[in-house]
This record gives sequence, structure tokens and C-alpha cells, in this order.
Amino acid sequence: MTILKTLFHKQDNTVSKPSGQAEAPGKSLIELVNVVKTFKNAAGEFVVLKGINAHFERGEFVGVIGKSGSGKSTLINMITGIDRPTSGEIFVDGVAVHTLSENEMAIWRGKNMGIVFQFFQLLPTLSLLENIMLPMDFCNTYPPGERKDRGLELLRLVEMEEHAYKLPTAISGGQQQRVAIARALANDPPMIIADEPTGNLDSKTAESVFALFENLVNQGKTIVMVTHDSSLAKRVSRTLLIADGEIVNEWVAKAWPTLTHQQMLMVTKQLEPLHFAPGETIIEQGSASENVYLITQGEVEVVLKRQDNSDVVVNRMTPGQYVGEIETFRGENAIASVRAAHLPVEAVALDRSEFIHLLEESKSTKQVVEQLVEERERENADARAGKL
Ligand SMILES: Nc1ncnc2c1ncn2[C@@H]1O[C@H](COP(=O)(O)OP(=O)(O)OP(=O)(O)O)[C@@H](O)[C@H]1O
Ligand SMILES: [Mg+2]
Repeated sequence: MTILKTLFHKQDNTVSKPSGQAEAPGKSLIELVNVVKTFKNAAGEFVVLKGINAHFERGEFVGVIGKSGSGKSTLINMITGIDRPTSGEIFVDGVAVHTLSENEMAIWRGKNMGIVFQFFQLLPTLSLLENIMLPMDFCNTYPPGERKDRGLELLRLVEMEEHAYKLPTAISGGQQQRVAIARALANDPPMIIADEPTGNLDSKTAESVFALFENLVNQGKTIVMVTHDSSLAKRVSRTLLIADGEIVNEWVAKAWPTLTHQQMLMVTKQLEPLHFAPGETIIEQGSASENVYLITQGEVEVVLKRQDNSDVVVNRMTPGQYVGEIETFRGENAIASVRAAHLPVEAVALDRSEFIHLLEESKSTKQVVEQLVEERERENADARAGKL
């Protein structure tokens, strides 16, 4: 930790700006607005990113996940400016990176972003220490007399100091990746963008690289990391799931993990966003059921009227959980009321017939929902009987 403190001085972790740049409207560290990327090949034009809107906040550790070919690397390359969008805008701390020239981009990137790739990409003819000093030389960020000491300290951080004067070929893949991370940190950038940094490592080495990232996030860095490793993806602060060049609603992915990515995307497109004031009724007991509501913000209370007309709150639900599934499943009127608790609630509604259709398409999801329905019916029966 003390090493980290001396190596990283930018306490506020702000990004340095090229002159003459317009500010983006939002306040997120990274913002993508309607980003489209098409590639042309012999078969014609191929849309890889289909109008991506996404944002990454300061201090977040975001895992970008999705099937092979879904567009993860293409998305990452938009953020780093390695590639340019066909249309749309990318702002990084207000800097419109898609408008920078190649040269401006290279310098800006060198100062503000540490990039880590799957295949390390250390320069083979330079020693490990020289590899790490290169970004400092290129961007002229630290006084020449300090660069070597800083390089050695960074190597110490990744436990590679004793190998400083070796060539990359003389060390293992995991060690090369640790050096590549040290290189990414050379100019103390506020963010690290990594494309499958553990993809070529055994699980133990992958764990040590991931632990290093966690440590950096704790120090205030922002990390966006593409990963295929589902156990690592569970440990980041948020995941962004891409399917066919589009982003799946994160709550849909959480609520119905047994759907295929395609099905999740289909649901995402059918969602209708809704807002409810504190105390506002979302579902009225006895009314016809129209929707399944997936909660995306706030908390809702499920309220039953007992036979003596008294109210009892039988359940509280938070983002990622859904209500209205019992009625949808049983084809009955609402058996309980649902209302926003003490804070405003945001939810997305999925049409009842769409939900039924979805369960027909995904038998495993149907099973999960079936179990949930039975469990909740038991809870409700207990509540009615006054046991709760
Ligand atoms: N330079 C290019 N020219 C043409 N097509 C490309 C180019 N780069 C990517 N593609 C295509 O775009 C699609 C998305 O590629 P991308 O590399 O972003 O996927 P990915 O999600 O990173 O996959 P993986 O998990 O295998 O790394 C693929 O079908 C790929 O073939
Ligand atoms: Mg990729």
C-alpha cells in the first residue's frame, strides 16, 4: 500500500485535457453516445456495434462480458481511441476522444490511460525496466532523472524488481503480464483499460493479476476489463454484458441469468421504463395483471390484505428482483398489492404475453420462475393466515 501511495500522486485522478476541447454534457468519466462501428469485408458491411450508449464512473471496476465476436474488443478500442467509431461520440472526462488526431490521441492516451492486452505486447528488444520507462519518455511525464527509480518501484509493485534487466522472453507469461500492468501504470493514469488481461494466464496467475487490479481500484483507479472468466466477472463492481453489438440491461441479466444472451437482449428491447413516487401503487390487489415489473432502483413492498382488512407487508424487493410473476404465471388477477417503499422506485415493465412467451422459449427459466412462484405463494398463504 505504501508503494502505491508514493507511485500514484494524482489524488483526484483527473484527466489532463488537450486545449480547445468542448466539455461533454454528462459527468461520467467515460461516456459513449450512440456509438456505431461497421466493418466492411467481401460479404459487405457488418455492423459490430449497433448504437452503444454506456457510461463508466470514477472508481468503478467494470467487467465487460459477452460471447466471442459480440464486440467487446471493438468497444474497448473505441474507448482507448485505438479505433474510431463509424458514428457516435466518445467522451473521456469531457474529452471528445473521437475527434483527436492520431498524434494528439497517442500523447493523450499515454498520459491518461493504462492499456493492458491479452498478449502483453512488451517490446521484445527492450529490458523490462526500459519497457516501463518508455511511456514516461514518450509523454515526458516525469523528469528524466526520476524515471528509472519510478520504473524500478513499479516493478517492485508487481513483484518483478529482481528481473528488471531481463528481456521479456526470459520470463513467464504471467510475469510478462505483471510487467505490462506496471507499464500501464507508468504515467499514473486515472484509468486502466484491459482486454482479457488474464485470458492467457493459468488460474493462479490470473488471480494475482486480478488482485493487483482490485488493489488499484481501492487506490481510486477506474478499471474497465474485458473478461471471459465468469468467476472473476462476479467479483467486479459491475458487469456490462454485450450481445451482438448491443448492451443487455444489467438487471435483466441479473434477474434471469438462465436466458441466452440473445433472449436477454430481446427482453432489453421490450422493456418500458417507469418511475414511481414513494408510496405509489405499482400493482393493485385484485386488478388484472398486465406486466411483470423488474425493479432497477429503490425498494418495493408487497402488501397483502388479510381477511380482517389489515395490511401486512409480506416481502420487500430490491433492484434485480421482479414482481407480477405469480399473476402472469397463474393467469389470475393480482393477489397482492405492490407499492414503492420510502424512496422513489424505478422499474422496467415487461408485457405479460412477452413474459409468457419468454418462459416458453426458455424452459430452464420457466423452472426457476415456477419455483419462485410456489415459494412466494407459500409465504403469502402464511401471511394471510396471520403467521407472519
Ligand atoms: N478490423 C476488423 N475488420 C473486420 N471485422 C472485424 C474487425 N475487428 C472485428 N471484426 C469483427 O467484429 C466482430 C466483433 O469482434 P470483437 O473482436 O470486438 O469481438 P470480441 O467480443 O472481442 O470477441 P472475443 O471474445 O473473441 O475477443 C467479429 O465478428 C469480428 O470478426
Ligand atoms: Mg476480443
